[in-house]
This record gives sequence, structure tokens and C-alpha cells, in this order.
Amino acid sequence: MNGTTIPPQPRPEPAPHPSGDPRFASLDATLDRYHYEPTALIQILHAAQQLFGYLRADVLHYVAAKLRLPIAQVYGVVTFYHLFTTKPRGKHQILVCTGTACHVRGSKLIFERLQQQLGVAEGESTKDGLFSVHQARCIGACALAPAIAVGDDVYGKLSPDKIANFIKKDLKKYT
Ligand code: FES
Repeated sequence: MNGTTIPPQPRPEPAPHPSGDPRFASLDATLDRYHYEPTALIQILHAAQQLFGYLRADVLHYVAAKLRLPIAQVYGVVTFYHLFTTKPRGKHQILVCTGTACHVRGSKLIFERLQQQLGVAEGESTKDGLFSVHQARCIGACALAPAIAVGDDVYGKLSPDKIANFIKKDLKKYT
């Protein structure tokens, strides 16, 4: 042993994403900030979702490759945490409260009726991209249970039979 040590090599500049989408450059900056550390996966996914609006398959593959993680592991984290979505969210998110007060007053049926009448499943957005439907724990309007929130607006004392009118009248103002 002659005691010579090899100095750490600088990490090569990440190659730009072939799509040319500048958001990947921002994602690269985030990956760099976290030193491509797999333990920072949640923070990196969170940043990716903010950049792209939702976690597209190609974005997840990109993150997995950069962190040298199996794609199944990345998908596992995304599906485990409710805050992540792999579907584009609507411009306006309709939150159906499924907290205890709302649940006992039938929020499940309201949630189902809303999905049926808007023609979307949970987390999906309507064809015009305006609305997506989500469940929420408690939106702080228990006295109005069962309640729905759209942005800062709260609609309370709902029932499945009132949903058609809610879509026709109340949702109109967001279009
Ligand atoms: S439980 Fe629905 S608003 Fe609180």
C-alpha cells in the first residue's frame, strides 16, 4: 500500500430529458439538491408532482432511474401515500368529506352519486379538465354535514338527491 487515495469524482451533469420539457431540468435540480439519495424519494416525488401536476408514468420511471431504485418500489410509495396522484387533477378539486360526522349522514352515497353524474372515478378529472373528485377526512364544517368543498367554498346539508342540482347550479360558477 502506498497510501494514495483517489479523490471523489464529481457527478456528471445529468443528461437533459429527451422530451426537452424544461420541467425535467427543475426536477434534475431537485434530485441534485437531495444528492440523488433514495431516502429522499418522498420529497423528490412531492417536488415532481408540484412540477407536473401529477405523477406521470414517464416521470416515475425517470425518478426511479436517477435514484437507481426499482420502479416497483417507486410505484409502491406513490400508491401508499394518498397525497400522490398518477392521474391529472381537475382545475377545481371537489372534496367530498368522509369524516365521521359526514359519514354517518351518508357521504358515501353522495360521493358515489357525484362520481356517477360527473362520469369520473375518484381522482380522475372530467373530460373538460375542470373538476376532479376526491375524498377528504374532515373539511371543518361538521355542523353542515354532509359537506363538500370546492376550493374555499363549502356546500353543506347535502344528500344524494341534491347532487344533480349541485352540479347544475353550484358547479356552474367555476366554469
Ligand atoms: S366530518 Fe365532514 S366536515 Fe367534519
